[in-house]
Amino acid sequence: MKQHDLLVIGAGPGGYVAAIRAAQLGLDVACVEKEKALGGTCLRVGCIPSKAMLESSELYAEARDGMSQHGLVFGDVGLDLKRMLARKEKVVKTSTSGVDYLFKKNKITRYLGHARFLDASRVEVTGSDENTEIQAKQIIIATGSKVATLPGVELDGDRIASSTEALSYDEVPAHLVVIGAGYIGLEMGSVWLRLGAQVTVLEYLDRILPGMDAGMAKEAYKIFKKQGMDFELGSKVTGARVKGNRAFVDREDADSIECDRVLVAVGRKPNTDNLGLDTIGIELDDRGRIQVDDHFATSVENVYAVGDVIRGAMLAHKAEHEGVACAEQIVTGYGHVNYDAIPGVVYTHPEVASVGRTEEELNDAGIEYRKGVYPFRANGRARALGQLDGKVKILAHAETDRILGVHIIGPRAGDLIAEAAVAIEFGASAEDLARSSHAHPTLAEAVKEAALDVAGRAINI
Ligand code: NAI
Repeated sequence: MKQHDLLVIGAGPGGYVAAIRAAQLGLDVACVEKEKALGGTCLRVGCIPSKAMLESSELYAEARDGMSQHGLVFGDVGLDLKRMLARKEKVVKTSTSGVDYLFKKNKITRYLGHARFLDASRVEVTGSDENTEIQAKQIIIATGSKVATLPGVELDGDRIASSTEALSYDEVPAHLVVIGAGYIGLEMGSVWLRLGAQVTVLEYLDRILPGMDAGMAKEAYKIFKKQGMDFELGSKVTGARVKGNRAFVDREDADSIECDRVLVAVGRKPNTDNLGLDTIGIELDDRGRIQVDDHFATSVENVYAVGDVIRGAMLAHKAEHEGVACAEQIVTGYGHVNYDAIPGVVYTHPEVASVGRTEEELNDAGIEYRKGVYPFRANGRARALGQLDGKVKILAHAETDRILGVHIIGPRAGDLIAEAAVAIEFGASAEDLARSSHAHPTLAEAVKEAALDVAGRAINI
């Protein structure tokens, strides 16, 4: 039997980061991963390949529709989808082999196969060349999440499929129906819309991007509609089926829609398949997530869990943060995540980004706040870029001026939100942001102006 101080199950952003941090702190660390490539959903079939496709498709759309405003005139702009997909694969390969390198650098032992608990300190690894048993003093479960499905909608892995397949369609669908107007639906919908598909997004709720600030989601909705994305809000999907090479989506109170492909993007659920959690008595909550305390400890001593498999937003950087905090907790007794300062970003064009509380959350909690807003059309750099859609909204406590939430739609909103996350982490006031010098001309000046507007004294508007 192999023995280690710490065993991490799963090499996604939660697991691989926890393994590295624990190794930095002096533990003998091992990690079991069933896929050959390290990095989990995020690196293999999630964040990284989708951003590669978003980048490529955005360049294509810009070359086709956007460059002429800069006086750049092309002939016919062509699309070589095969090459675009090959580039995406290369980006993924570089990222996943980067984790291999990091494991070697930090002397982390890697096991290939599926881990299953035998007891609270032993797991068996199967499915690799040879079955192995591993004993560890501490174990972190970081098995992530898997695609959630809908009753009546069976994924056939081709015409009706998840984001994994939508990253690799071998031709541009003439008509793509997306079920779910969340992160995945809007990002992957944007990719294929830009590449020439008709895209219809069916959303059960009467709004897009649930969980994001409602006012900002409304603005995002208008922008995506203007780009040509069709939405049917308040649309309950009851089934989907394939006939020949056509797919049909059935809805309550509306006609079926015929299309070429269906992307199911109605959320993800924790992945605890065949882990043997019941063998050791690990408790799950009513949504199938592993229950943990504030220190990531499960109901079984010396077994911890981080990332998508526990409560909270299913975001790679949230999992990473938890991985670090959990490893530090195990070794030093200290480790903490400030969930108020974890940003969320939708990588559409323009991007939608947010950190802290929304207006609805503040109203529900009865917290009085002041609001500062600044549109990108008033920002010099945005005008030079030719990207005028969107705005920055800052919510600050009415009495203390402490920043409670920042919401941005606009060019590079995903990068701009970092400043807001740091401000919230440091307990900054809107005035702190407003009095910090921001280089001119930059998009970040829109954040500063919104901070000034909290006190009604924005300059450039
Ligand atoms: P999501 O939770 O973001 O959105 C799912 C959407 O589907 C919701 O708007 C929901 O109301 C809708 N829906 C649910 N049932 C429906 C039905 N029967 N008919 C029509 N609509 C229905 O989930 P999504 O987009 O699948 O993403 C999964 C996870 O992956 C999320 O937790 C997200 O945080 C994460 N992710 C993060 C990304 C990022 O950070 N940029 C990118 C992609 C995914």
